[in-house]
Amino acid sequence: MPDGPANEFRFDSVDDVRDRLRKVDYLSDEGIAGIVYLADRLGKPILVEGPAGTGKTQLAKSVAEITNARLIRLQCYEGLDESKALYEWNYKKQLLRIQASKADGDSTGWDQIEEDIFSDDFLLTRPLLEAIRAEDPVVLLIDEVDRVEVETEALLLEILSDYQVSIPELGTITARQIPLVFLTSNNTRELSEALKRRCLFLHIDYPDMEREKEIVLTKVPDISESLADQVARIVRSIRQLELKKSPSVSETLDWARTLMLLGVEKVDAEVATSTANILLKYQTDIAKANKELSNEASTVNRAAK
Ligand SMILES: Nc1ncnc2c1ncn2[C@@H]1O[C@H](COP(=O)(O)OP(=O)(O)O)[C@@H](O)[C@H]1O
Ligand SMILES: [Mg+2]
Repeated sequence: MPDGPANEFRFDSVDDVRDRLRKVDYLSDEGIAGIVYLADRLGKPILVEGPAGTGKTQLAKSVAEITNARLIRLQCYEGLDESKALYEWNYKKQLLRIQASKADGDSTGWDQIEEDIFSDDFLLTRPLLEAIRAEDPVVLLIDEVDRVEVETEALLLEILSDYQVSIPELGTITARQIPLVFLTSNNTRELSEALKRRCLFLHIDYPDMEREKEIVLTKVPDISESLADQVARIVRSIRQLELKKSPSVSETLDWARTLMLLGVEKVDAEVATSTANILLKYQTDIAKANKELSNEASTVNRAAK
């Protein structure tokens, strides 16, 4: 941890994290809230991993919201480099400065010019440096870090362990405060040991039925307890199938909203099969789910007789 002004803690307890997240409609559990609490206390970044659509990105956004912090987001992609992640010299402006001094009849020596053009005024700040230099509270989100090449991860290491950035022409810039940092990964490749070592690790899986029902109740206006319950139940049974792509929480929400629009109160096999394309995006998955859904419905019907 760097020296400097002591950070005030953002949360009083794990329950405090949970309650405040709930107030902004993010339904966490003990594991999620616990790690956020620890990250704040220990001044460590959180590496959040898990399937798509389980609330990894949303967690960072929601934590920014409840701590009144500005969210600074670095969206990772293949080919992301230092000049887009960290900083870049504004070479157009530098050129103009050089030309201007020539036009002036040039009493300034090259050394002076060089010092000039490698100063703050000529620096283009990208998200990582912006987060380090921020004076207001920030949450740094390094989203989908598994998309960058493993070599590019090295860019992040100095920031994640020391909260500082070295710029050869300017020196080392150290954070004035330790920001909360979230890295997310969809696990498309293994991250380096060096990166993992610097982070607290949080795996967010699909929520259990109770939590998913709560998410639906929170996020879908006017939905009944009974419909939310059926939705959570059916989605869970679909996730147990061997699928190419399981439905994510966002798809559960889309499905619940669709059922509301259709005025459905009871999800029978017919409704479920005719709307399965909202939950699932592969024809083979839809076929599997439909088979399961009609079996399930007939079992329920038989039991009712
Ligand atoms: N625990 C949760 N509480 C509330 N909403 C959630 C939760 N998890 C997921 N969601 C919903 O699912 C959507 C997708 O989440 P997102 O953070 O984009 O997924 P990921 O980044 O994991 O792919 C969010 O916008 C949010 O509406
Ligand atoms: Mg995301």
